[in-house]
Amino acid sequence: IPVDDFDLVIFGATGDLAHRKILPGLFRRFVAGQIPQTSQIIGAARTDQDDQAFRDQAGKAISEFAGVKKNDPRLAQFLELLGYTPIDAKGEGGWKELKSRMRDGAVHAFYFSVAPSLFGDIAERLAGHGIADEDSRIVVEKPFGRDLESARALNATLAQHFQEQQIYRIDHYLGKETVQNLMAVRFANILFEPLWNAQYVDHIQITVAETVGVAGRGSYYDKSGAIRDMVQNHMMQLLCLIAMEPPYHFDPDAVRDEKLKVIRALEPVAPNDIVRGQYQPDGDEPGYIEDCENPDSRTESYVAMKVRISNWRWQGTPIYLRTGKKLRARTSEIAITFKEPPHSIFDDTGAPKANELVIRLQPNEGMNLKVMIKEPGPGGMRLVQVPLDMSFADALGAEGQDMPDAYERLIMDVIRGNQTLFMRGDEVEAAWAWTDPIINAWEDSKQAPEPYDAGSSGPDEALRLMHRDNRRWREIRS
Ligand code: BG6
Repeated sequence: IPVDDFDLVIFGATGDLAHRKILPGLFRRFVAGQIPQTSQIIGAARTDQDDQAFRDQAGKAISEFAGVKKNDPRLAQFLELLGYTPIDAKGEGGWKELKSRMRDGAVHAFYFSVAPSLFGDIAERLAGHGIADEDSRIVVEKPFGRDLESARALNATLAQHFQEQQIYRIDHYLGKETVQNLMAVRFANILFEPLWNAQYVDHIQITVAETVGVAGRGSYYDKSGAIRDMVQNHMMQLLCLIAMEPPYHFDPDAVRDEKLKVIRALEPVAPNDIVRGQYQPDGDEPGYIEDCENPDSRTESYVAMKVRISNWRWQGTPIYLRTGKKLRARTSEIAITFKEPPHSIFDDTGAPKANELVIRLQPNEGMNLKVMIKEPGPGGMRLVQVPLDMSFADALGAEGQDMPDAYERLIMDVIRGNQTLFMRGDEVEAAWAWTDPIINAWEDSKQAPEPYDAGSSGPDEALRLMHRDNRRWREIRS
């Protein structure tokens, strides 16, 4: 569906996120015919340059990150929508020029692709100069705070100038097609939901494994660590979508109300239910300590934890989360292990095996349901577990080959004015309220993170977290 004519201002338009994600994403939507020809995309940053210099820069970034040839005529057409205004976020320079570029009648959106310390300055000037009005939207990126206090302060700053309905807090995991599919699978089928509770589900594993390390962004990462960088936001969102009650409608507040209830029902995590790790050097490859250039660092590049949701649906079904850098494979998945049938009518088959539903988020998006069937042959009733395996790309044919990037979807939702896939202020605060004690307990402790080999599945201690409960992690493989 094409969107309404819009003026989108990207603060921080010369930065990495704009180059890698925002501009290539907008280009792809343009090619898909969703962006009106009259729309404007205005870069705003400190660099003093003109429209043409910004177009050249954007053209280079788009051809690199959207895989399009520099002389593709569609790229030239798209670049015509681009303009640039040098801006002083903390001063007065550029704001009048910016205002003069904004058109009456178009949707106005402002993307804050800048450090959170500038959010307040920019919000104040947008409002003060009358550039933003009550229909304007602002988009803010993670990290949204580094604890509850700073997240509250950020929310309060933005609230001085904008209503909650105008604030789009991005968690790019919510823009991933397969993450949205979690809701489709759960709530558009009758098959799963009756079993989706502690009576039938033994446990759930959520894994986000990465092969990359933190080289190049060590100074940010070392102050963050896996809990702030991945658990408080991306993994929390996955957990919410898996565990929430059915919203009455696929409507922004209905969905976010249900997610918030899950976060509020999370039990505090005991220190012995968490394992933190740091990857070690591997031959010539530096370890975490070298990558973050802090020899005393206790920051985790890996975390595994056992989480409990204290509500009627999930009481007694633990959820195990793990995420880490420099692991064996890049894979994100959610695995739901059901309980075994209460009684087996078959002799001679060994223990009945539990059904398992695995939803692969990336790469090779798809679903795999493990079911028991009879092993072929005349040798009696012997059972075997087989996969019902579906790759979304195969099942959807050509459409499945062209999955839009998370940012494409999210930016279009901003223009459409749909907040369903964005975090509400109370949700972010509730997530920090749960994460803060976990982080504080670690900071107060003297413990060192567990070492793990680059290219492994994480520290051995994490295996024990599962073994202790007579369970085991799924293998990490792509
Ligand atoms: C980012 C984190 O938010 O998400 C990174 O800061 C992480 O550390 C990234 O690598 C993972 O995103 P994706 O889309 O590659 O799974």
